[in-house]
Amino acid sequence: MLALPARYGRWVPILAPVTLILLFLHLNASLSTRKAQVILEPELKPTTNNETDSTIPEDTNTTPNPEPEPETPTSQPCRPLPGIENVLVIMKTGITEAQDKIPVHLRTTLRCIPHKLIVSDFEEEIAGIRTHDVFRNVSETLLTNSDFALYNRARAGGRDALTQSDMTKVANSAAGMPDNPGWKLDKWKFLPMIQEARAYRPDMQWYVFLEADTYPFWPNWLAWLDQFDSSEKLYLGNQMQIGDVIFAHGGSGFVLSHAALHAVAEYHAGQVDRWNYLTETQWAGDCILGMALGQVGVDLTWSWPHVTTQSVWEQDALGEAFGKMQWCYPALTFHHMTPADIDRLYEFDRRWFSNENNTFLLYSDIFRNFIRPMLADQLDNWSNFAKDEVKHEPENPTSEPESINQCAERCARTAGCLQYRMDADGKCYTSEWALRGLPSPGVWSGTMMWRVDAAIQKKGHCEEPMWVLE
Ligand SMILES: *[C@@H]1O[C@H](CO)[C@@H](O)[C@H](O)[C@H]1NC(C)=O
Ligand SMILES: *[C@@H]1O[C@H](CO)[C@@H](O)[C@H](O)[C@H]1NC(C)=O
Ligand SMILES: *[C@@H]1O[C@H](CO)[C@@H](O)[C@H](O)[C@H]1NC(C)=O
Ligand SMILES: *[C@@H]1O[C@H](CO)[C@@H](O)[C@H](O)[C@H]1NC(C)=O
Repeated sequence: MLALPARYGRWVPILAPVTLILLFLHLNASLSTRKAQVILEPELKPTTNNETDSTIPEDTNTTPNPEPEPETPTSQPCRPLPGIENVLVIMKTGITEAQDKIPVHLRTTLRCIPHKLIVSDFEEEIAGIRTHDVFRNVSETLLTNSDFALYNRARAGGRDALTQSDMTKVANSAAGMPDNPGWKLDKWKFLPMIQEARAYRPDMQWYVFLEADTYPFWPNWLAWLDQFDSSEKLYLGNQMQIGDVIFAHGGSGFVLSHAALHAVAEYHAGQVDRWNYLTETQWAGDCILGMALGQVGVDLTWSWPHVTTQSVWEQDALGEAFGKMQWCYPALTFHHMTPADIDRLYEFDRRWFSNENNTFLLYSDIFRNFIRPMLADQLDNWSNFAKDEVKHEPENPTSEPESINQCAERCARTAGCLQYRMDADGKCYTSEWALRGLPSPGVWSGTMMWRVDAAIQKKGHCEEPMWVLE
């Protein structure tokens, strides 16, 4: 399913469920504590997943019985979230995805958020909230840029003006950028979004920026932000690098302090044309924003693993990357979450925090209580993204495809192997990760359950949460 192991993929969420996987260097995590994920060039994500409901397996044998809820989440009172009144949450979306992806947030993750702004390339009512047209103030000149064709069409003719190709999920070319109107428009939203946020609530301490496939855990966010001073210029997010620009990955979610937001908004307002020119020459809008912040002296606080590029199904909670182990860190977001994923995780989130003793939600808590119960010895049509190809012995280069049991045996014989996977062509892969994984036709996946349980035991419980603070 993926050109690169999922957890090293850098995914740009875009309008319509088209996504790109971006190629970048594999870094030796344990040796490189100060290296961002370097992005060399964008590449197509070779999948046609229908993202609205792709990650829930049909077979629920392996999942814990979800007890029927007497009440729907929307009928429940909001639990207190002290500090949320000082936060503006900005969710960025677009006309080609908003109706699929926004309603679920409004009934779950955004339901109890007092200050929220949905920015889009089209103003409309969605599930009772009005989206803000992020381009309402751009110049006539910029509107003649071909990237704005979709915007101009929608503004003139509304949703009826969308064409089939606007909704195209996968580009037809095998190389280069996808010919997707929503994607091309997306990079232009970042700086105007900063202006919209400032205009909407100039007095907030924190501005949290999310995308429509990003899942936020609010108690963790508030506990984290509480340790910073919003009058300092702060930019916190998942470190990425294009060329020599270090910036926060948009889909992972990032935050600007009051001081940082006002500084960059002021700066950008003074030279909009120049930044339009710079945006034209770049392909990643989150990178443009990082450049602008750099110009006003705001450096990124590297916040992995609080925020990551992956969904909850692709997290390696037992492992290590970028010199850090996720286990004792609170998770602040997951990315590439479908509406069905969001509903499901929200149920867990709600139950977890309904226990008065649970102040935070750590990666270890999620792994132990949400992921581990879904792991199974073997799953059909499923990929856990096991990454290490098992090579045949050179003196016996058999062309026979292996059986899944032989693949399992190879994992069993390999110290540290927790999962294995066999593709349709009989190639066997092993892995030291323990990932829930995603549906994948023709792929078998398996987990050494006892080893996973031993690893959980060995890691144990975290005395205190670990935080990225500088
Ligand atoms: C995606 O799948 C859902 C459920 O199977 C279906 O209702 C919807 O029409 C699909 N969307 C697209 C764009 O294929
Ligand atoms: C957009 O332009 C109007 C009119 O000039 C102005 O009042 C408003 O503040 C601008 N909004 C933003 C977000 O820049
Ligand atoms: C919270 O912890 C206390 C002390 O350990 C325990 O007595 C109580 O039952 C716990 N509450 C819940 C809801 O688990
Ligand atoms: C896996 O997918 C194939 C092809 O769609 C199907 O025939 C088979 O029944 C599936 N296996 C399971 C266990 O669902």
